[in-house]
This record gives sequence, C-alpha cells and structure tokens, in this order.
Amino acid sequence: MADLRKLLFLIPSLFSVLHLFFSSESVIKGGYWNSEGGLPASEIQSSYYTHLFCAFASLDPDTYEVTIDPSKASQFSSFTQSVQLQNPSVKTLLSIGGGNSTLSSMFSNMSSSATTRKSFIDSSIQLARDNNFHGLDLDWEYPSNNTDETNYGLLINEWRSAIETESISSGQPALLLTAAVAGSDQISPLEFYPFQDIANSFNWINVMVYDLFTPDGSPDKTQPPAPLRNPTGLFSGDEGISKWIGSGVPANKLAIGLPFYGYKWTLEDPNNGGLFAPATNPNAGGVSYKDIMGVSPKVSYNSTYVTNYAQKGSDWYGYDDTQSISAKVSYAKQKGLLGYFAWSVEQDNNWILSETASQTWG
Ligand SMILES: *[C@@H]1O[C@H](CO)[C@@H](O)[C@H](O)[C@H]1NC(C)=O
Ligand SMILES: *[C@@H]1O[C@H](CO)[C@@H](O)[C@H](O)[C@H]1NC(C)=O
Ligand SMILES: *[C@@H]1O[C@H](CO)[C@@H](O)[C@H](O)[C@H]1NC(C)=O
Ligand SMILES: *[C@@H]1O[C@H](CO)[C@@H](O)[C@H](O)[C@H]1NC(C)=O
Repeated sequence: MADLRKLLFLIPSLFSVLHLFFSSESVIKGGYWNSEGGLPASEIQSSYYTHLFCAFASLDPDTYEVTIDPSKASQFSSFTQSVQLQNPSVKTLLSIGGGNSTLSSMFSNMSSSATTRKSFIDSSIQLARDNNFHGLDLDWEYPSNNTDETNYGLLINEWRSAIETESISSGQPALLLTAAVAGSDQISPLEFYPFQDIANSFNWINVMVYDLFTPDGSPDKTQPPAPLRNPTGLFSGDEGISKWIGSGVPANKLAIGLPFYGYKWTLEDPNNGGLFAPATNPNAGGVSYKDIMGVSPKVSYNSTYVTNYAQKGSDWYGYDDTQSISAKVSYAKQKGLLGYFAWSVEQDNNWILSETASQTWG
C-alpha cells in the first residue's frame, strides 16, 4: 500500500519531466500532404521538411473511433517509410479531421462524453502505432461554442495523459500531439478555444492564418487572401498570431501557416490589376501555386500587405510566392515562433516555395 502511494506521488513528477521532453522540438518546418492532391507521398521532397502531416483520417460516425478510408489505407501505412527515403530524420503525423462540417459535428459529439473520447483517443494511438506515425494532429474545424470549448479541453488533456501512459508501457518515445487551429476571428471565433489546455497538452499548434479574404467573401474586388500585415486594421497573419500569443499560448508553441495556393478573380479592367481592383465572376475555389505559375502570369509583390499577386489578361490571382513566403518565415523567426507549416506540399511548383521557406529559416 505504501509503495502504491509512493508510486502515485511519482506520477505527477514523471509527467513534468516528460513535459520538458515533449516540448523539445527546435524548429518546425512542417507540411501537410493532402492525400487527394494527386502526388504520391514518395515524390515529396522531404529534405525541406522536419515534419510531414498525412491528411486526413476520419471518425467512425457510430463508434467515434479514428478511421482511415480503405482506399487510402496502403498510402497511409507506407507514408512514413516513403518520406523517410529522402530524409531519414523527417517525422510524420497522422492528421485527423479537416474542413468538413459533418466532421465538425462529429468532433463536437465525440468530445461530449468520456466514453466516446476514450474510444477516439485509444483508437488514434493504436492507428498511429500500427501505421508507423510519430504523432497525431487534431484538425477540428472548429470548436464553436462554450460546450465545445470545455469538451475540447477535456479531450486534449485526456489525450495527452493517454499518450504519456502509452509511451511508458510501450517503451517508445511519446507520440507528438499537435492541432491545426483557426488563425483569426475572421475564420472562426478564437474565444471558443481552451487556451490554457492547448498550451499544456499540445507539442505545438499550426495556426491557419490564410483564407482571410476570398472571392466568397469579397466577390467584387481583388484581395490578398493571406496578408501578413493589414494597414486598414482588418485581419492579417500578424493580427492572428499576436492574438494567440496574447491568449497565453507561448510563441514557441506556434507554427505559422503558409498557403501554397491562392484565389482567382476576374478583373473588370485588365489595365487596372492592383490590389482591391474591381473584379467579377469569382472562381471561389483555391488554385494551386503550381497552376498559377502554369499560366506564366506577370507577378507582383506588395510589401505593405506582404502578399504576391499575379495577372494574365483579366485573370488575377492573390497568392503567396517566394517574396511573401520568405517574409512570413522571417517574421516567424523574429517573433520567436517555433516554425511554419504549409498547406499543402503537393501544390508547390518544383519545390520552390518549400526550398525558399526552409532556406529562409536556415
Ligand atoms: C464529409 O465527411 C463525411 C463523413 O466522413 C463524408 O461522408 C462526406 O462525404 C464528406 N464531405 C465532403 C464534401 O467531403
Ligand atoms: C456547439 O456547436 C456544435 C458544433 O460545433 C453543435 O453541434 C452543438 O450542438 C453546439 N452546442 C450547443 C450547446 O450549442
Ligand atoms: C451529433 O449528435 C446530434 C444529437 O444526437 C445528432 O443529431 C447529429 O446527427 C450528430 N452528428 C453527427 C455528425 O453524427
Ligand atoms: C500595397 O497596396 C496598397 C493598396 O493598393 C497601396 O496603398 C500600397 O502603396 C502598396 N504598397 C507598396 C509597397 O507598393
């Protein structure tokens, strides 16, 4: 009995020791690989990355266990081996969720009871180990009320302890635990994130500071979709990152999001093709960097907003190119962030943005 009590006393100190280890990544050069983007994982230039996220696993609607779609099973199970051929030290994470509103409701339901949280957590750890991932990434887009906030906090605290317990019992390094989070109130209200639990439970978070201004929201004027700065006082990458830091999540637990895609507008007058120019006929979907470069447009850079834009006739694209990518990575370094991540690596053009980001950080 006395021994058991001693052991129980030891557990919290064990956790704080592990806590030191689990926040020890020195830089994150992260990239998501979208399994639906058409590039085999074996073709990723993984030497530009320290961490690659395999996207996405889903949730079983009945049991809330984490599942990999059978059509993706072999690509996912060989993901780590594929990307380590070129870079044996790259780490991989299985990303769960994504921007799908059905999933959002499933996360909300799953996190609302201890039984379904356990089902989700245990199955996620099993799936990560069975498929040789080094970690797990939560892409719940987005917790959207106070109930979600509380349950999100319970989920990630329980997830963290399950991960530490599994590490002790398996004798393997603890799985990494990360999340992709809204980068700004423009995307989803940040007030519904449990900031303290996030700071305590995740190794780091990927802050999605993109899709701030899109053809959906602004059909009649060209826009910088992911400006780092915004002199008008509206939303920007800097505003979102500063808000996360101000909420108590340390800067060195944040990775800034870099979009490897942009959005297309159609100019009303091809001779008036700057930022905020009159435009029509929005094509609301994203366009990959590769496809934008494919039309050989005239490329411009605006250092006030920190955005690139490109024009070909009356086609106009707001997006990130080498100038804005390197400015954002320099900003991340100066601000004391842990690093950056790209959505998504297969949208790069000949790995130019991946190389620019990696070299800018150094
Ligand atoms: C969203 O996720 C649900 C559940 O996994 C799936 O049935 C549905 O097809 C997805 N919707 C889209 C647009 O991908
Ligand atoms: C909170 O939001 C979720 C969607 O994220 C929804 O499913 C749930 O019903 C909401 N709960 C309350 C109490 O409004
Ligand atoms: C979440 O739970 C609610 C209430 O039980 C249900 O109506 C809804 O269909 C569930 N959502 C999903 C995606 O299963
Ligand atoms: C960026 O664009 C804005 C809006 O058109 C303009 O006011 C500003 O001067 C531009 N910045 C630079 C450095 O050209």
